Amino acid sequence: MSSSDSLIIFDTTLRDGEQSPGASMTRDEKLRIARQLERLGVDVIEAGFAAASEGDFNAIRTIAEHVEHSTICSLARAGEKDVRRAGEAVAPAPRRRIHTFIATSPIHMEKKLRMSPDEVVGHAVNAIKIAREYTDDVEFSAEDAVRSEMDFLVRVFEAAIEAGATTLNVPDTVGYATPDQWAEQMATLIERVNGSENVIWSTHCHNDLGLAVANSLAAVRSGFRQVECTINGLGERAGNAALEEVVMATRTRQDVYGVSTRIDTTQIVPTSKLVSTITGYPVQPNKAIVGANAFAHESGIHQDGVLKHRETYEIMRAEDVGWSTNRLSLGKLSGRNAFKSRLKDLGVELESEEALNDAFRRFKELADKKREIFDEDIQALVSEVYDEQEEAFRLVALHVCSETGETPEATVTASIRGEEMTATATGAGPVDAALAAIEKIVASGANLQLYSVNNITSGTDAQGEVNVRLERAGRIVTGQGADTDIVIASAKAYLNAIERLEHPPKRAHPQMGDV
Ligand code: KIV
Ligand code: ZN
Repeated sequence: MSSSDSLIIFDTTLRDGEQSPGASMTRDEKLRIARQLERLGVDVIEAGFAAASEGDFNAIRTIAEHVEHSTICSLARAGEKDVRRAGEAVAPAPRRRIHTFIATSPIHMEKKLRMSPDEVVGHAVNAIKIAREYTDDVEFSAEDAVRSEMDFLVRVFEAAIEAGATTLNVPDTVGYATPDQWAEQMATLIERVNGSENVIWSTHCHNDLGLAVANSLAAVRSGFRQVECTINGLGERAGNAALEEVVMATRTRQDVYGVSTRIDTTQIVPTSKLVSTITGYPVQPNKAIVGANAFAHESGIHQDGVLKHRETYEIMRAEDVGWSTNRLSLGKLSGRNAFKSRLKDLGVELESEEALNDAFRRFKELADKKREIFDEDIQALVSEVYDEQEEAFRLVALHVCSETGETPEATVTASIRGEEMTATATGAGPVDAALAAIEKIVASGANLQLYSVNNITSGTDAQGEVNVRLERAGRIVTGQGADTDIVIASAKAYLNAIERLEHPPKRAHPQMGDV
């Protein structure tokens, strides 16, 4: 067991988080998030699964080339091809890790892998040895550890240590654990595994029972010194342990956990907003730490108490997690250089002069409509510049008629693969009419599963950020759009989702298929 009081924060938003339906990200989007995670002070960024696709490989490699202070990691199944691909992807990073895994529960070994326990150990050992050819920092995970037999876990982990693994990760892949039981199981592993004092023990918990954070913290109490988590708790099914909750729980209850992290907590809210904007997963208002209401006091008694003495009802300060960093960034009179330098501060590097000019033009347009431009406005604007570079489905013009007592009607002109098309439709409201007009043009046949609007900053002149989630034949995509006019933002979001529906990225799922 590590006696250190440093807790390593391993962020897997770009890998496990990306496994959320419709949350798949482009290379540029991943790079923007990786840069923000670096600014947040994350120790390890799991940037993807290199063998999944050419796109994932390139994204990891780009991140490895640009991020200096966090370790860059790629996931790899315990097979030679996957591990070598991961090794090549992380090679440019000053600090790099390969994370290889294989399932160890009877049900996964028999039904999914069709391997005997001996074969599983053989694959794990072989993968770790190959990974060590690329880096000294190798993590091994026993997938579905929660349903694995303790004797077999001990055997696999001892073999992993002997083969050269430096971090051992114990995942609750299916979100089945409970805090007391997990704490006990983790303590038993540390006690029984020979050589356990020479490795970092890590936990990776899913949230199917809403216990991911509690279970992760229980593992910390048992001596685990790495927690795998995601921003906003994004991830497969019900998601992973939320980074912001793990970090703030260990910080606020230092007396209980006795560990500290490298996280700059003031970057938590900006990171949460960026991830939500890029993935199209809105944050529920009552979500701990990063929800819009997390620090809002509604009842008169609470408000009175907080005004008299903040600590009567607050255990954390909103500004400590970045709520007050809703920074006034630029205004109408700001020039191109000020804009460029703000982009740099935000870690955004637009690849060409053309993209920069485009972003600056959009900034000026926005500044004409909205007096104060905040960092969040700039992030939304940059997302649009990136999207538009590949856009085959683009909004050209929109006209809506909405009048008391009349049926709202919208006329939309959209550019579809270079050809301009126009349609008119009516609807229950102007948004409904606009989306119906677009659907007349694109005839996607998709089902709208989610539509949400959030204001990016405050005030009635704020940009509305619209997220839509579409489903067709079992495939789910999300789309985003931002504008001070929410009907326009909705039309942009719908077309953005259609774009993703029509151009599905080809990628393998790491936890399916053969090793
Ligand atoms: O949930 C899980 O088991 C995983 C592993 C690949 C670590 O994501
Ligand atoms: Zn997972």
